[in-house]
Amino acid sequence: MALVGAQGNEDEKMILSLPKERGWGKAPYFYFFQNFWCPSISLQGVHNFQKYFQAKDNDVFVASFPKSGTTWLKALTFAIINCQHFESLVNHPLLTSNPHELVPFLEFSLVGDVDEKIVKLSHMTEPRNFATHLPFPSLPTSIKESNIRIIYICRNPFDTFVSGWHFFSIFMSESSHKITIEEAFERFCNGVIGFGPWWSHVLGYWKESITRPNKVLFLKYEDLKEDISFHVKRIADFLGCPFIEEEKGMMESIIKLCSFDKMKDLEVNKFGHHLKIIENKHFFRKGEIGDWVNHFSPSMIEKLSKIIEEKLSGSGLSFKTQSSS
Ligand code: A3P
Repeated sequence: MALVGAQGNEDEKMILSLPKERGWGKAPYFYFFQNFWCPSISLQGVHNFQKYFQAKDNDVFVASFPKSGTTWLKALTFAIINCQHFESLVNHPLLTSNPHELVPFLEFSLVGDVDEKIVKLSHMTEPRNFATHLPFPSLPTSIKESNIRIIYICRNPFDTFVSGWHFFSIFMSESSHKITIEEAFERFCNGVIGFGPWWSHVLGYWKESITRPNKVLFLKYEDLKEDISFHVKRIADFLGCPFIEEEKGMMESIIKLCSFDKMKDLEVNKFGHHLKIIENKHFFRKGEIGDWVNHFSPSMIEKLSKIIEEKLSGSGLSFKTQSSS
């Protein structure tokens, strides 16, 4: 990795001493760093994010475990924060830009000329809207110590795994880091997945949302699917910009704009690319609760159910795995 100077050598030595596993998807390896499995391709960005990012109190972060509905939550958050600027929605940026362009992941973007990027971030229009997959304990100190608001989304681990399997298989077909779904499942069950273990990630934000409910809003994909109006109201209230009665129409328009069918059908999401790495269409697959039933064998169901029951026991946290409609 490209860490430079004396400190860079120390960091490199530290990285070489970390436990390492073969990666899947885009990353050749995962390193066990600060108690999570960091994809090798993200180490530099994570390091820069932790070291250089300065939070501002009115920042809004979307945080998530990968493949949990991040794209949807980014779109909703961006639209809610900016609803005064784009009242008609006719020229809305979400019609021509993928949510990942509008709400960047800082651990992926803070690479290359970091000094210049950090200066640019400091001059951005406020409130700034960013995203991260980092587990709560690994967030930069300035985020943990400031009053910024974090909206976290997670999803039942069965659908998260299946969604990840499809997504990371796209990269596997063009790289040598190929594994079967059975191997990927074993690794997921051992916690070895980018930014995992899944349960530690979810529990970290869950605990923080209980301790500091004004700082972390904890959402589940399944709940948004079941009652999006209720949750869009919750997000707007949490962000301190509640929809008043006269803005009900605006709220409904935002919900429609960010819906799976609408977003999937936009030109930018059908034909555009994100960071020259991936076609935007891959961020929109099925968008359903319960697709995992088409991929799990009875033994896989038994194994993951047992692990999740044990890991989440006593936390008060549970997940729906089937749609109730
Ligand atoms: P599936 O692979 O199960 O279809 P992330 O955004 O964190 O990468 O999560 C991706 C999952 O969210 C994918 O699930 C994707 O289809 C779904 N998704 C993307 N946009 C959505 C939207 N607007 N509404 C609901 N689900 C969405």
